[in-house]
Amino acid sequence: MDKLIIKGGRKLKGEVTVSGSKNASLPIFVATILAPGINQISNVPFLRDINTTIKVLDSLGACVEGNGNVVKIDSASIWNHEATYDLVKTMRASVLVLGPLLARFGRARVSLPGGCAIGARPINLHLKGLQALGAAIVLEHGYVEATCKRLKGTRINFDISTVGGTEHLMMAAATAKGETVLENAAREPEIVDLAQYLNRMGAQIEGAGTDTIHIQGVTELSAANYEVMPDRIEAGTFMIAAAMTGGDIRINGMKLEHLDALAFKMQDAGVEITSRDGVVRVKGPKRLRSVNIKTRPYPGFPTDMQAQFMAMMCVADGASVISENIFENRFMHVSELLRFGADIVIEGNTATVKGVRKLSGAPSMATDLRASASLILAGLAAEGTTEVTRIYHLDRGYESIEKKLAGLGADIVRVKE
Ligand code: EPU
Repeated sequence: MDKLIIKGGRKLKGEVTVSGSKNASLPIFVATILAPGINQISNVPFLRDINTTIKVLDSLGACVEGNGNVVKIDSASIWNHEATYDLVKTMRASVLVLGPLLARFGRARVSLPGGCAIGARPINLHLKGLQALGAAIVLEHGYVEATCKRLKGTRINFDISTVGGTEHLMMAAATAKGETVLENAAREPEIVDLAQYLNRMGAQIEGAGTDTIHIQGVTELSAANYEVMPDRIEAGTFMIAAAMTGGDIRINGMKLEHLDALAFKMQDAGVEITSRDGVVRVKGPKRLRSVNIKTRPYPGFPTDMQAQFMAMMCVADGASVISENIFENRFMHVSELLRFGADIVIEGNTATVKGVRKLSGAPSMATDLRASASLILAGLAAEGTTEVTRIYHLDRGYESIEKKLAGLGADIVRVKE
C-alpha cells in the first residue's frame, strides 16, 4: 500500500490543469450500454473508479480499449445482464447499469450495493422509479432482479434530490415508450453532461440542469463520441490548497460557474478569485476569515467539498459552523484533523471549527475519498511532516494529485508503506 509524505508550509505557486470529471465519466460509461457500437469518450481521468467501471462493462461483454485519456467502448458485444457483488461493492455507481441493461435487454440482475463509509446510501428511489417505468423488481439473495417488456414513460417525482437516481432514470427513460417527466430532479452539472451525451446518441432530453426533466423516449440510440466535463471537485480542492497555503495559482480547464457556491464562500473568507480566458487565478490571504457553510444539493454548497473546506476553516480567524445535510456520516475527517491540532466540536450534523494559528503535521489515515483530500490540505498548510496512509481512497477520485501539487511547489511524495 502507498502513503503520502508531505512537508508543510510551502506557498503553492504556478499552474495546474484539471482532469476530466470522475462523477460525470461514470454514468457516461454506463450509458454506452444503451447504444450498441463504438463510443469514444475523451478527457477521461485515470482513476481507480474508472478502472472498476471498465471491469463492470468488460464483465457484461463490452470491448473496452484505453489510450491515454481516451476510452473506446464497443457495447455491441454486450450479452451478459448481471453485475456481481464483487464489482458493485467496490464501487456503488456500478448499480447504474441496472436501468440501461433493463432498457436494452428487458432484464437485469445487479447486486445491491450495501452501506458506505459516509452513509447508508439506499437506492430505493432508483428502484421506485424503475417500477414506475414498468419494471418488475424482485430483491433476492442480495440482488435486484428486474424484468420488463419495453419501459413506458411516466411522471416521477423524487422525494429528495438524488444525483444517481436522476441519472439512472434519465438513462432508463431515454428509450422508453412515450414521455417521462422527472420532477424534483437533481441539477448537478454531471447530470447535464450525461444528458448532452445521451442527446448526442439520439435521445430527446430537455431540462437537465433544472428540477424538471422531460424525456421523449426514442426507439433506439446510436453510438457517439463525447468529451467529459472538467472535474469541479478536483478544481475546488486546488482552490482551497492555494487559499490555505497563502499561495497564488492559476487553474486551467475548470469551469468556475460550476463552483459558484464554493467561490462565494471562499471570497467571504478573504480569498481572491479571478477568471480570465478560461483560467482561474486563486490567491490566498495572509490570514483567512471564518465563514459558515451548509451543504445542499447543487447549486448549493457541495457535500464533496465539505471536508476540504473544513480543513481550510481550521486555520481561519474565528469560528465556523459547518452543517452536513446530504450524508449522515460525513465527518470522519474530524477525528483525523484533531490530530493536527485543529479545534473542532461535532454536534449532530454540525461541526463548529475554531481556527488555530497553525496546524502541526501528523501521521493520519484516510477514511474516504474527500476526507483524504482534507488531510492532504491540512498537511500542506501545517508545520512539519504529515503522513497520509490508506490513500487507495484518494486514488478512486484524484488523478495524480501528488504530482499536480508537487508541480505547484508542494513538498509531497508517494512512497510504498
Ligand atoms: N438517497 C436515498 N435514496 C436513493 C438515492 C439517494 O435516500 O434512492 C439519499 C442518499 O442516501 C443521500 C442523498 O439521497 O443521503 C443524496 O444522494 P445522491 O443519490 O444524490 O448521491 P449519489 O448519486 O449516490 C453522487 C456522487 C457523490 C456525491 C453525491 C451528492 C457519483 C458517482 N457520486 O452520489 O460523490 O457526494 O452525488 O452530490 O456521482 C464523491 O465523489 O466523493 C461522492 C461521494
